[in-house]
Amino acid sequence: EKGGYEHFMLKEIYEQPNAIKDTYRGRLQSRDNFVKMSGIEDNLRKFTNANRIIIVACGTSWHAGLVAEYIFETIATVPVEVEYASEFRYRNPIINSQDVVIAISQSGETADTLAAIKLAKEKGAFVFGVCNVVGSSIARETHAGAYTHAGPEIGVASTKAFTTQITVLTLLALKLGKANGTLSNSEFNKYLLELESIPEKVEKTLLTDEHVKYIASIFKDAANFLYLGRGYNFPVALEGALKLKEISYIHAEGYPAAEMKHGPIALIDEQMPVVVIATKKGHYEKIISNIQEIKSRKGKIIAVVTQGDTQVKKLADHTIEVPETIEPLTPLLTTIPLQLLSYHIAVMRGCNVDQPRNLAKSVTVE
Ligand code: M6R
Repeated sequence: EKGGYEHFMLKEIYEQPNAIKDTYRGRLQSRDNFVKMSGIEDNLRKFTNANRIIIVACGTSWHAGLVAEYIFETIATVPVEVEYASEFRYRNPIINSQDVVIAISQSGETADTLAAIKLAKEKGAFVFGVCNVVGSSIARETHAGAYTHAGPEIGVASTKAFTTQITVLTLLALKLGKANGTLSNSEFNKYLLELESIPEKVEKTLLTDEHVKYIASIFKDAANFLYLGRGYNFPVALEGALKLKEISYIHAEGYPAAEMKHGPIALIDEQMPVVVIATKKGHYEKIISNIQEIKSRKGKIIAVVTQGDTQVKKLADHTIEVPETIEPLTPLLTTIPLQLLSYHIAVMRGCNVDQPRNLAKSVTVE
């Protein structure tokens, strides 16, 4: 059942090229320059007339929502807010029929997300679901939706659900960007072609596995980890830290790299591994100066870089290369080595990777 892999988590990490392909299959039509998503087509007006989009989710799905925020704002120029479902439901959120709420959930059973949906519906918002489990409570409770076709995710640590959620949300953003005139036909096509090439690039990224395992062996006994990223890769830093925490029980924090100097930099010494996502696109020079700040305080730098990078390589203790892609799609690649890093560290520490202590696959209690 684990298909020859030692753990479900590893199997699911390796399934990502196919899971992403299965998620865009039939929807992404690059030759016709079209994205087909009936859940959106039937409700396009709701989306194009919306004042804003509010994304509600928990955990890793919330991180996918944060990535989507950047994507929507660039590709579809729609204002987006991302909320923890548990906070949203207990506030008095100001929402009305002009708002579209997108609920993201792998299991489709998360209690807080389900309650947030019910609240948004009561207030008259249109609610769109992005779920993995067909026929789940959230899939049923939303007005419309689009499934991620990740296949069953058994490992408690979410991996392929995250990358397929980003895939669906990118398709949605593209559809809106085209409908509201933000994207020209040629820009739209460029995105489609690039998204279509992602599974192959994920495949190439998976080839870093042995090298990542080696890095894991060096840092497996660390007491703390910091993860830093900017822009599209800030949520990837949060996701990397969450993954490490939940399966290896090492304390880890994710931060936007520029926030370092507002506090966390005080933590840095020679004992502190810092994972920095430093791909060529987007704030590259800024990230380099962040890396220099860490280095001068003797922090150990593990950098995720674009293939062929030379500048970061000179500064970092370890680098992990990912193929080049357009900036909004980098999270689909940069997240892979971070999944592998947490996996290998957890295995080396003898942790129960697929069923970490205190955690359940779906959180159906508040
Ligand atoms: O099923 P959901 O996507 O609604 O679950 C949300 C979170 O409970 C989930 O992502 C959790 O954070 C994972 N264990 C993270 O790996």
